[in-house]
Amino acid sequence: GLKKKEVHVLCLGLDNSGKTTIINKLKPSNAQTQDIVPTIGFSIEKFKTSSLSFTVFDMSGQGRYRNLWEHYYKEGQAIIFVIDSSDKLRMVVAKEELDTLLNHPGYSLQRIAITDIKHRRLPILFFANKMDLRDAISSVKVSQLLSLENIKDKPWHICASDALKGEGLQEGVDWLQDQIQ
Ligand code: GTP
Ligand code: MG
Repeated sequence: GLKKKEVHVLCLGLDNSGKTTIINKLKPSNAQTQDIVPTIGFSIEKFKTSSLSFTVFDMSGQGRYRNLWEHYYKEGQAIIFVIDSSDKLRMVVAKEELDTLLNHPGYSLQRIAITDIKHRRLPILFFANKMDLRDAISSVKVSQLLSLENIKDKPWHICASDALKGEGLQEGVDWLQDQIQ
């Protein structure tokens, strides 16, 4: 058949938000792993949709590894940002990391550096994950707490998801696919 277009995506968000679980669930069932452990550094994963072949940089969200993220900004043509909707205590930390990401100017003195997130029109897909948990807040509330309405220069979309059951993931990835072609 036709070769699918290749897209590189960064998967970011705090530790324990469910990034690796989401990426795993997007793979064909025979390629999924059963035991998911906290990511060390990062891991490169692949999955396909109807028209695209995704390569994902699944970054560790642990504090000590978050400074790695910016070294991979140049690799990304889109961002998946995952939030644990039940982790109200750390919602402010997630917001800080998101704001740092969105304001990252790159280091180049040239017009627009390829590491520059601030000035690139990168689509950002947010997953308000763990919606199955009793104390999860709604995706609307997550979007308010992260002030997503202030993102004016990038297309973005938020989906509530349950990565354990795989709910909400397809809607998100369909949106991402539409943004990319
Ligand atoms: P780091 O690699 O440390 O940055 O974490 P991560 O964001 O990759 O999280 P990971 O996928 O390892 O998931 C962390 C824990 O949350 C695991 O125990 C998952 O089973 C659990 N988890 C992930 N998604 C969901 C979800 O939608 N609902 C529930 N209840 N648990 C989830
Ligand atoms: Mg992980």
